[in-house]
Amino acid sequence: MKELTPEQIQENWNQLRQLINDTFKDERLEKLNHMYDYFETRMCVAPASGKEHYHNAHVGGYVEHVLHVIDCAVKLKKLWEDGGATINFSDEELIFAAMHHDLGKVGDMKNDYYIPQESEWHRKNQGSIFTHNGELQYMTVTDRAIWLLQHFEIPMSEWEYVGLRLTDGLYEEANKSYYVTYNPDFSLKSNIAYILHQADSMATHIENDKWKSAEQQEEIKVQENVENIKKAVTMEETSEQLSQKSKDLFEELFGDNS
Ligand SMILES: [Fe+2]
Repeated sequence: MKELTPEQIQENWNQLRQLINDTFKDERLEKLNHMYDYFETRMCVAPASGKEHYHNAHVGGYVEHVLHVIDCAVKLKKLWEDGGATINFSDEELIFAAMHHDLGKVGDMKNDYYIPQESEWHRKNQGSIFTHNGELQYMTVTDRAIWLLQHFEIPMSEWEYVGLRLTDGLYEEANKSYYVTYNPDFSLKSNIAYILHQADSMATHIENDKWKSAEQQEEIKVQENVENIKKAVTMEETSEQLSQKSKDLFEELFGDNS
């Protein structure tokens, strides 16, 4: 499982807060800072998902994912623009929507959305690192994001609402009537939703790829250690040498520094 160091968690948090201060202004900035101050201790350690094979199911994974989606969204917007697409929204609107698309994953005013999975069986067999907190009233992540923003009286533009609301694309059934329509009057009047959905999808798949390659590296390392043990026990050595070698290998495999 991926682990961020306390320094990395702090650095990501500082980066997010700096981006907020650089992007927003006046009363909205004040209100955003109030909300981020309120959630600081919970948000900076929140994971982005509960299962390790989804994405960023580690401490600090939420903020890391949000920064990743913002970065992808800004880059994708440029790609769309260079390709001739109409961009009828500002960078501030794009960043606001990207920054809050998963806000519901922080939980409600009192409780975390994700809590550590206590069941060893589920951790081992289902890769469930975190589980949903049963204390929370059920809401979709997007509904909770919008509820929290209104709770802190943070206003949003129409494009910010449309972008944030539709970031999950057609993975969310409730989005179908926005994305699939045969009436031209009902079609989306801004590309912000498509760009945000692509950014979220891109960031999520990259995070998943990184997790997979780290797991593969770990498997290779374990396999190499097993091979070393096999070699050691087949070598002609005195029982004292053998016992020392086994101890060293055991340390390498299961010791604190492995
Ligand atoms: Fe996301």
